[in-house]
Amino acid sequence: MELKVGVIGTGGIGQEHIRRLTNVITGAKVTAVSDINKETAQKVAEKYGAKFYESGEEVINAPEVDAVVIASWDPTHAGYVLESIKSGKYVFCEKPLATTADECIDIIKAEVKAKKHLVQVGFMRRFDSGYRELKKVIESGKLGAPLMIHACHRNLTHIPSHTTDMTITNSGIHEIDISRWLLDEEYENGQVLTVKQNSNSSKKLLDPQIIQLKTKSGVRIDVEVNMSSGYGYDIQCEVVCEKGAVRLPDPNKVLVRYNCQRSYEIYEDWSQRFIEAYDIEFQEWVNSVKYNKLTGPSSWDGYVACVTADTLIKSRNTGAAEDVVTIDKPQFYK
Ligand code: NAI
Repeated sequence: MELKVGVIGTGGIGQEHIRRLTNVITGAKVTAVSDINKETAQKVAEKYGAKFYESGEEVINAPEVDAVVIASWDPTHAGYVLESIKSGKYVFCEKPLATTADECIDIIKAEVKAKKHLVQVGFMRRFDSGYRELKKVIESGKLGAPLMIHACHRNLTHIPSHTTDMTITNSGIHEIDISRWLLDEEYENGQVLTVKQNSNSSKKLLDPQIIQLKTKSGVRIDVEVNMSSGYGYDIQCEVVCEKGAVRLPDPNKVLVRYNCQRSYEIYEDWSQRFIEAYDIEFQEWVNSVKYNKLTGPSSWDGYVACVTADTLIKSRNTGAAEDVVTIDKPQFYK
């Protein structure tokens, strides 16, 4: 039987997810949509044969919706997640889970009270074949213990409304999540460093920034988060261990010989670079909802990412490394 999915937010990634739920993966059907931009939502509803609703709450509570996908703007996530938990429905929430740690705690409390894992957060890199291979090599133990991660997150360019904090909460948050997933441990402290600024970035934006994190066991992570690489969307990650190192592969592109040069294409943005990861993420989410047992990033993971991002922002203001302080992990998430 197909899982009937309601989607809130029919902008860029919302439409991408509707397309993949309808045309790419198996076992799901988009039955309801909503967006504050009603015109777009109505067009999308018509295109995919879904029902248009005036509000996200109506989508969540609609009888033809078994599970919810939230792809609206960041500040709207927490309210819709809480409403989904209240209605007892599974909910896939695009990252970030919420914009404040307190909202994440409200979600954790509601989920614990519901006594059921209902929430998955959209950290899609955990579904990327390259990162999964990295994790497998680390966990095999043949390279010894991990000591350091060197990573970089380069965007071609940034939207005019991009802010200094968004570099951490919207972009660097992927590295915050993936590093702790790769290492399977929590952070001790973190700091943001600024470097010589790129004259091509907005004058209001600190760009690039360097994220430094230290885990409880002492592993050091450094991430260049660069919103104006000027050449493409480029994600790199190398884990250095006691007896060797393992590196994320570049996307598999053909080698072109042309005009006295050899070259490989570099993607323009995340939607191309991680397209397969998103497909796998949604197929696994649909399967796990059907089996009544979520396997992807949880509310706890969304909370830790949010607290870590807040800590990094604080450190940029204090100029010193700041401790990552979380509430005790509820038994429910262990
Ligand atoms: P977008 O601006 O293209 O689309 C967001 C849509 O949400 C807009 O159509 C807007 O009208 C709608 N919206 C805003 N408030 C709403 C509300 N209260 N109820 C219903 N609809 C509402 O933005 P985009 O790029 O699609 O991002 C959406 C979310 O997805 C963001 O939270 C973003 O962080 C996340 N995202 C995650 C990515 C990932 O790599 N996992 C990549 C891109 C976005």
